[in-house]
Formats: sequence, C-alpha cells, structure tokens
Amino acid sequence: MGGDMLADYQGRGFSALRVSITKACNLACSYCVPDDSRHTRLADELSAEEMFEAIKLLYEVLDLKKIRLTGGEPLVSPKLNKLLPLLSELPIKDFSLTTNGQLLSEKIPLLVENRVKRINVSLDTLKPDKFAFITRQGKLEKTLRGIEDALDAGLKIKVNMIPIKDVNEDEVVALLDYCLERGIELRYIELMRMGHLSERSEFENKFWSMEKLLCQIRGSYHVQAVDSESNATAQRFAIPETGYFGVIANDSAPFCQTCNRLRLTSNGDLYGCLSSPMKYSMSSFLGGGDKTSKEELKSLLSAALATKQQVSFYGSNLEMKSVGG
Ligand code: 5AD
Repeated sequence: MGGDMLADYQGRGFSALRVSITKACNLACSYCVPDDSRHTRLADELSAEEMFEAIKLLYEVLDLKKIRLTGGEPLVSPKLNKLLPLLSELPIKDFSLTTNGQLLSEKIPLLVENRVKRINVSLDTLKPDKFAFITRQGKLEKTLRGIEDALDAGLKIKVNMIPIKDVNEDEVVALLDYCLERGIELRYIELMRMGHLSERSEFENKFWSMEKLLCQIRGSYHVQAVDSESNATAQRFAIPETGYFGVIANDSAPFCQTCNRLRLTSNGDLYGCLSSPMKYSMSSFLGGGDKTSKEELKSLLSAALATKQQVSFYGSNLEMKSVGG
C-alpha cells in the first residue's frame, strides 16, 4: 500500500507474497524431497501473531496484490485457525492457499469462514498406487474427496500437476479430462531444478517439457493459446466450449523478467528469488525487535529484490518445502 513503489532496473517489484506458514508436511513428494522422511516444523517457526505482524508490515511497505499461503503443507499447521481470521482483516482481494488436499475436507469450514475463495490443489495422478508412490504414502481418495467437498462448498479450484517422465507423463490427458469435467483449471508445472533435483542427471531423466505435453493434449483436443495477465507465470490455453488449462513452463519459457514474487518462510526469512540462496531475516522487525523503521524494511526488501535472476531460473539447492511452491 504505502510509500514509493519498490522497483528494480527491469521494472520488477514485489506484488505477490507467498508465505510458507510451516515447513511441516504430511507428504514427502519425490519432486520436492529426496527421501520419505516427513519434514517437521522449524524450531524457530513464527507464531500466528508474529506471522501476521510480518505480513502486515510487508503489506504496509509494498503494493501487495496477492497473498498465497503455502508450506510445507499449510493445512497441517494449528496456526491456521488464528492466522486466517487475522489475515482476513487485510484488504487483499486475491488471497489463496496451496494444499496437497489430504486434510482439505475437514478444513473447508475454516477456509470458507475466513474468506478464502480460491485454492490450488496438488494432484499429479489419478491412480491410487501411483499417488502413494509419488507422495510417499499419501491417500489419493482423501485428496479427491477434498476436491469434491471444496467444489460443493463453492471454492474455486486450480489443480497443479507436474508431469514427470516415466512416472505420470502418461496421465497428462487423463488429468485434463478430470479437471475439465469439474470446471477446474489445470496447471501443468514443468519440473524445476530444486533441492535434490538441482543435480543435472536427476533432473534431465525426469523432465517433461511443455512442448511434449501440448503434443499429447493436441492428440485429444483442439487447443488455442489465449492471452494471460501481464505478471502471469502460466501460459493459458483454451479448449473451445470446454474449458481452459495453463502451463507453467519454468524451463522452456522462463518468466523471471516479469517475476513479482516475494517469499516469506515460516521462521521469518525473506527470499527474493527461488534461484538465490540469499535470505533476509525479518525477525528484528517483529515482536518489539530493535528495528522499527519502514525505511530499514524497505532497504532489506531492495536487497532481496536485487537477488532476482535476469532471465531464467538456473536451479537451486532450496527445497520447495522451506520456501513454498
Ligand atoms: N518442480 C516444480 N514444482 C514443484 N513444486 C514442488 N516441487 C517442485 C519442483 N521440483 C510445486 C508443486 C506443488 C507445489 C506445492 O509446489 O507444483 O503443487
């Protein structure tokens, strides 16, 4: 809201905030983490009040248009009960949450009561065994039930699917059929070189490109490219009289030049770029810490903004678990 707009030499600023409210997750997806040990919360995780304070401070110095809660898995955090009502005070129109859907059915009342209108659900397969394999023991039927219940409650849903070679790339069209039948917009996400996948061979053995998936879809549907919003990460496509889908082509068509995202981790660190390990702690601005000036926060944000890549994402050791999807 307040003050001068923060912008870099490419005209980029921070207008979309992603908050990893906890590092804890009830799944251990193979594209996110290298083994099946579940991540737990960080020892120094912010409380709901501190997290709200951090978000509010950012809201006051930035021109924030969007806030998305991520994790880990946001729905596992008991903090959500307190955080959502606090956040609903902020006049942010575009407020959403990304979830794996395992706990979705039971959390719908909490979401609906607190003005969450839109959610993204990660769903990479419609086969129970494959779901258990990719997520390392997740239950497909829980996520599918969550999606049905959320639709019944009037929530708008997008589904995220990462096609992975020799794992689920054969379900590119099946997932699209599933989403089109329900009026859900599917987002295909190209695999990113994050965490353990930053190693070249691991990534290259598994990568499935936008070109390949469009080719698969064109085998079943007539596809037309449509314009997307200016800061959109997804390229949108229409299937006339049937619906829409999008592709987030991190690798084939990088969108760093219009990236407007800022990430806040569950222990109060800011990241300006998924490709950069540089982090900027907000802790001294919180809970009566010694830094109180908006100018100091702005200079921290300028430093974070300067870590953005110029053109394309080149990989990172960061895990999505810590920084949010
Ligand atoms: N590549 C692309 N997307 C990823 N996500 C997590 N790890 C990766 C990765 N290596 C995204 C998934 C999931 C969201 C929470 O984070 O799309 O839906």
